[in-house]
Amino acid sequence: MPITANDKLDVHKIRADFPILQRRVHGKPLVYLDTAASAQRPLAVIEAIDGFYRNHNANIHRGVHTLSQEATEDYEQARAKIAGFINAPSKLECVFTRGTTESINLVAHSFVRPSLKAGDEILISWMEHHSNIVPWQLLCEETGAILKVVPMNTRGELELDTLAEMLTERVKLLAVGQISNALGTVNPVSEICTLAKQQGVPVLVDGAQATPHQAVDVQALDCDFYCFSGHKMYGPTGIGVLWARAGHLQAMPPYQGGGEMIRHVSFEKSTFNDAPGKFEAGTPNIAGAVGLGAAVDYLQSLGMGNVARREAELLAYGTQKLSQVDGFRMIGTAAHKAGVLSFVLGDIHANDVGTIVDLHGVAIRTGHHCAMPVVQFFDLPATARASLGIYNTFEEIDILADALEKVLGMF
Ligand code: ALA
Repeated sequence: MPITANDKLDVHKIRADFPILQRRVHGKPLVYLDTAASAQRPLAVIEAIDGFYRNHNANIHRGVHTLSQEATEDYEQARAKIAGFINAPSKLECVFTRGTTESINLVAHSFVRPSLKAGDEILISWMEHHSNIVPWQLLCEETGAILKVVPMNTRGELELDTLAEMLTERVKLLAVGQISNALGTVNPVSEICTLAKQQGVPVLVDGAQATPHQAVDVQALDCDFYCFSGHKMYGPTGIGVLWARAGHLQAMPPYQGGGEMIRHVSFEKSTFNDAPGKFEAGTPNIAGAVGLGAAVDYLQSLGMGNVARREAELLAYGTQKLSQVDGFRMIGTAAHKAGVLSFVLGDIHANDVGTIVDLHGVAIRTGHHCAMPVVQFFDLPATARASLGIYNTFEEIDILADALEKVLGMF
């Protein structure tokens, strides 16, 4: 099937923006189908980081000299771009972190932990990434609180009626992923936030897999916390964001102590900066923030609606094409899915599938995808996962299908 010419995105032009896509792997053109693990970076991001280090590098919020002021401006401008990208009411509600994992840990330690008692409950879903399971588990072990898990059905959809029943006054936080990295399920987080709000339960949304693929509006979602990572959305690694309501940030104690997060320090007592500075102890990943700002510009230049539409076409094609391969079984068949094709191929171990298709230049992820309870739910040791990004083509899906045929031929 040819690359579609009738959509609003020119995939040839997009591919030309990503230098790594020119690579060959094992003598074959690279087919990168592992964007859910980490997206590739466009030149705009690479050049923004390069330009920052070449021209403006200095520490931020600390110097009167020109470079420090320029670096501070670049960093704060990136924060403003990110606020616009998720429709945050204020850039001061956007805290730079190392990524989604740190954002979730920050909320666990500063928002939930101070008031959590034995018998309280934290609610998560069955399809969470480990980063939205383990921080809560650690808190529960420490305090005697109880971690409860909202079940899903065999298509990989959350059971919303059960979720509604589980939202009692004992629940201190509901933490849920917007899109499952292991199944591709798009959860109805807006509906979930409404249910939680009726019970006065705050909601944290793990948006790591959502921000690269669809428009996000934290005000429309009406959540309390929204977490995401730069590297999943074509930006750098080591940078991410926690968005939180201003009132929460004001009330939350600092997560880490150090430079930048203070207002005044003496040996007797220190006072702290306002948010977001209060939560950004130490010299941050300044170039990372600048790179993330460039990634936001890049995605906005494509239009998130166009991105979502294009990836939906690829997903539909991939679902139909791969289903024709003997022994292919999709894991995750929710009615509302994003560009994730998790699968098993007969009884061939996923690692063998991944290793063999790599020989054909195709990069997919295999294993538990940092979501072990999901593979356990399907009673599998692992799945193979092709995950889609803005640079993928229909031909690349054909190449994956051919590579899977070759895998079958070897067993
Ligand atoms: N969470 C990442 C993935 O889905 C690493 O592969």
